[in-house]
Amino acid sequence: MFDKDRFIEDCVKAAAEGQAAVRELLQRAMSDPAEVMRALGEPQHAGITPLLRSRDLTILNFVWAPCMSLMPHNHQMYSVVGIYCGREDNVFWRRSGATIAAAGAKSLGPGEVATLGRDVIHSVLNPVGRMTCALHVYGGDFFEPPEPRSEWDHETLAEQPWDLAKVKELFRTAEARSRHLPFGEQK
Ligand SMILES: [Fe+2]
Repeated sequence: MFDKDRFIEDCVKAAAEGQAAVRELLQRAMSDPAEVMRALGEPQHAGITPLLRSRDLTILNFVWAPCMSLMPHNHQMYSVVGIYCGREDNVFWRRSGATIAAAGAKSLGPGEVATLGRDVIHSVLNPVGRMTCALHVYGGDFFEPPEPRSEWDHETLAEQPWDLAKVKELFRTAEARSRHLPFGEQK
């Protein structure tokens, strides 16, 4: 059975051991995605909700709006991602001169967990017409990374400083757009 407070406590302990222990914990939690959904509740809105934020560890509940995408970005810290509803399509990028080039992809469905290294650059697409829900665990303060984070323009792939306010606005506008789609299940 998934219990949010217990998960947070266990995560703090696992993070002290390292990324592999966090992955193991998340894999156990995601072994029953419906339980995680029951404990965290049906998503009402797209967005990023912190369950825990500290200097060494951040636990975020991600709710992706239907069919929304997030531009390439890095984290400057390791992360572990577990999906409990919907799907996250990740494209991984590598630096190539002054820009980036696509280097791989990983599609994650309910129950699946991915580990991302400290230097990973990825973009994320929710390819389904309903909200996708995930727990993301970061090995640091997600909101104040130790080194400046970058994002890359979706269209031009030009690097620019990461803009949290813009990211939050993206979730809001993606949700608003989805509520006007005639096929949207969230209407
Ligand atoms: Fe990310």
